[in-house]
Amino acid sequence: MADKKTRFYKRYAGHSGIGELMEDLGKAMASGDMLMLGGGNPASIPEVNQLWNDRLAEMVKEGDELARALGNYDTPQGHHLFMSELSDFLNRHFDFNITEKNIAVTNGSQTAMFNLMNLLGGTGEDGIMRKILFPLVPEYIGYADQHLEQDAFLALRPEMEFRGEHRFKYHIDFKALEQVNVPLGALCVSRPTNPTGNVLSDDEVNHLQDFCK
Ligand SMILES: Cc1ncc(COP(=O)(O)O)c(C=O)c1O
Repeated sequence: MADKKTRFYKRYAGHSGIGELMEDLGKAMASGDMLMLGGGNPASIPEVNQLWNDRLAEMVKEGDELARALGNYDTPQGHHLFMSELSDFLNRHFDFNITEKNIAVTNGSQTAMFNLMNLLGGTGEDGIMRKILFPLVPEYIGYADQHLEQDAFLALRPEMEFRGEHRFKYHIDFKALEQVNVPLGALCVSRPTNPTGNVLSDDEVNHLQDFCK
């Protein structure tokens, strides 16, 4: 009998690398006696944890602040005060010259990357498939299942510089990059990269920027 499940069902409920990883990590944590190195969790910085504690205590104590935070919808783009504070912060530190209109709040970068990859890569209204290019793999496993279309990703193998016994460094193979001749919607790198810890040099990032232009 023909399978009535939608493609989305199969895609959404099917196997994914990041699903498997998070399942493994969750079980390991629950088993208790584990030295967790983290699966890309946000860094636990005592001063930042203290800040969270203090702020949450303040919210619990004062008026209806907690009730509002838990119970009120914000606009789809995010809370206006948060967005204006965040755009001010980015302007102060990075000279971005942006306003709150440039900010979209998502519940984590996994979701942000899902949106970006599907907004920028995939089949356009002109019928042309524009891929998302990973100029250097290994890359973060969570990207692998992010696209709703088949074959939307293209990845290039790295060059490896051997630096003595048991030591090497990944580099982008720029010759291979120049030879890419399929339409691209965006290019994606993480820096540092999970899980290898590779960090692209500033030169490599500038080179990628030129390539994108
Ligand atoms: C490179 C990279 N991108 C995205 C994520 C997911 O981050 P978030 O928890 O913000 O969704 C991780 C988490 O480990 C990551 O390593």
